[in-house]
Amino acid sequence: MIYYKTTDEITLIRKSSLLVSETLAMIAGIIKPGVTTLWLDQQAEAFIRDNGGKPSFKGYKGYQHTLCVSVNDQVVHGIPSAREIKNGDVVSVDCGAFLNGFHGDSAFTFLVGEVSREAVNLARVTRACVYKGIEFAVAGNRVGDVSHAIQLYAEHVNGYGVVRELVGHGIGKNLHEEPEVPNFGAKGKGPKMQEGMVIAIEPMINLGSRNVVQENDGWTIRTRDGKVSCHFEHTVAVMKGKADVLSSFEIIDEAMAKNSNLYTEKEIVG
Ligand code: MF3
Ligand code: CO
Repeated sequence: MIYYKTTDEITLIRKSSLLVSETLAMIAGIIKPGVTTLWLDQQAEAFIRDNGGKPSFKGYKGYQHTLCVSVNDQVVHGIPSAREIKNGDVVSVDCGAFLNGFHGDSAFTFLVGEVSREAVNLARVTRACVYKGIEFAVAGNRVGDVSHAIQLYAEHVNGYGVVRELVGHGIGKNLHEEPEVPNFGAKGKGPKMQEGMVIAIEPMINLGSRNVVQENDGWTIRTRDGKVSCHFEHTVAVMKGKADVLSSFEIIDEAMAKNSNLYTEKEIVG
């Protein structure tokens, strides 16, 4: 069943989601070539606990870490390890935090150093896909309207592959609640959205084909063709007229601007 949230509950989910955004902003400040994905994970766990929260992913279905860190052809659910980030890596960092009884969930893809122009465009389009979906996350619409908007922009406008095997989700007292929020689908189909529904919109978009495989670690999802993939995610409250975005990319952007190891949008202007 779908749990609709009160205004007070949405306030709490915003706090959890902002803690996730602050964690991702902290990561944005320290990610650079040479650091390991496990070190990033440790920094994130300490940050969340220092701020009174608990990592949502740790213990979830046996997952042992705070972050999922997925590099290049890894799509999502990359397990933090001794792997070092390298110049040119495309690094998706997914984080969840539990605070005051509610979860927040958000993901951001960092472009470390000199990344390919193809990867820059894929990241820009994937980030834009989140907002294409958010535009339709309004009371009275159906989940399929959100799904369709994302698929249309990624596949038809930009020719990228939309991952089918993993989807966005409701979120609240549980990390994953109903409804599922696919990144593909038909307008006018799926559950009707009502005020108080809180969903995580998280397109996973591949440069090449949409097909993915799971690695032998039982978690990591990577592209079958070995091409790069990007992932961005916001926690969003469905409202009348306009969705309320509970997580924030703006504070991540601000932190990124101060880290000279990261590619930023400014660099390709002109
Ligand atoms: N944001 C991801 C999701 O919603 C993270 C889940 S990782 C897990 O599926 F370890 F918690 F499963
Ligand atoms: Co999620």
